[in-house]
Amino acid sequence: MGVLRFLNAGESHGPALTAIIEGIPSNLELSSEYINRELARRQQGYGRGGRMKIEKDRVEILSGVRFGKTLGSPITLMVRNRDWENWTDIMAVEGQPVEKKEIKNPRPGHADLTGGIKYGFSDLRNVLERASARETTTRVAVGAVCKRLLEDVGITIGSYVVSIGELSVKELMQEIPLEERFKNAEKSEVRIPVPEEDEKFKKLIDLAKEEGESLGGVFEVFATGVPAGLGSYVQWDRRIDGKIAQAFMSIQAIKGVEIGEGFQLAGKFGSQAHDEIFWGKERGFYRKTNRAGGVEGGMTNGEPVIVRAAMKPIPTLMRKKSLRSVNIETKEPFDAAKERSDVTAVPAAAVVGEAMLAVVIAEALLEKFGNDDWNEIKERIFQYIQHTKEY
Ligand SMILES: Cc1cc2nc3c(=O)[nH]c(=O)nc-3n(C[C@H](O)[C@H](O)[C@H](O)COP(=O)(O)O)c2cc1C
Repeated sequence: MGVLRFLNAGESHGPALTAIIEGIPSNLELSSEYINRELARRQQGYGRGGRMKIEKDRVEILSGVRFGKTLGSPITLMVRNRDWENWTDIMAVEGQPVEKKEIKNPRPGHADLTGGIKYGFSDLRNVLERASARETTTRVAVGAVCKRLLEDVGITIGSYVVSIGELSVKELMQEIPLEERFKNAEKSEVRIPVPEEDEKFKKLIDLAKEEGESLGGVFEVFATGVPAGLGSYVQWDRRIDGKIAQAFMSIQAIKGVEIGEGFQLAGKFGSQAHDEIFWGKERGFYRKTNRAGGVEGGMTNGEPVIVRAAMKPIPTLMRKKSLRSVNIETKEPFDAAKERSDVTAVPAAAVVGEAMLAVVIAEALLEKFGNDDWNEIKERIFQYIQHTKEY
């Protein structure tokens, strides 16, 4: 683990979700409201299930912040599960299990079955409570702290959805600049960067819902204003593209990650694949294209960092299209039961992706510039940015 690290804890229907972040420097301005705005963004999106209506996430800062500024000590963030009051028996810390409420039916596409085998459980709730993407709530809270830090030095993180199911705006969005894609996505319930296409996407989600189906998709996360030279080529585990891939693959249901043009580069001639280098008096070195997605040689190269991730469809399906599975006790087949669930969560996953990219970039930044007093560090960062222009 690097200079910035975090751990999170909490069950989906437990009393609360918590995270401890260590390595955020002192004197960074931080408020609960700032974090809450990010938590609300994760809860939006057309096609979400009932859970999102119950939970209105709000953070409580339990340590590491005093009078609106960080102390340099570990920051503890807590988000209470409002649903907890309905789960005090089933999720009790002490006492006996409520037997008829035990889960014996593992859902295909989830951690249920393998988690039960691995940890020796007869109630699969013990697995799904932690494997659930509810856990990403505190990742978004931690990401918000990192975004707060990054924005002080001019780094912006954003995201938009590129496709849901077979519908894609990949071609249509080509002429739209990154920041505008993000602005449009913020106004769209499906986080699509091309406003005219919104209704089509919503219709597809409605159709999937009627059919008892679910949908996956692709989203992109970007970071602009990132100075050249974060990450390193000198050791395998210091390469920032490796760290980004790990961070994104760790998000539930993410099955593929690309940086820049990624897989598409594999099919091109070299002359069409790389970004030529130019120089101007004002900006120093720059590229006119960004096929590399802002990373070369395991380091940021000064161009926007662009990460694309593929999300598989939500595994919990409604009755009509349910998948076959086998009861762990009776060994009898059953159709995976209907549960309250999202039809698609690609827009929310994009917001989680923003948080993960913010964590990786903040970590690389602090690794390079230290992590004691933010006022002092900021000065060094600005000096270095000047150096990258004058080099
Ligand atoms: C933001 C978000 C929301 C999700 N919501 C649901 C849901 O409501 N129901 C569900 O079955 N899976 C949901 N998932 C997906 C599961 O968490 C995921 O498919 C499961 O963990 C298995 O994926 P894995 O093999 O990558 O761990 C969601 C994922 C994310 C990122």
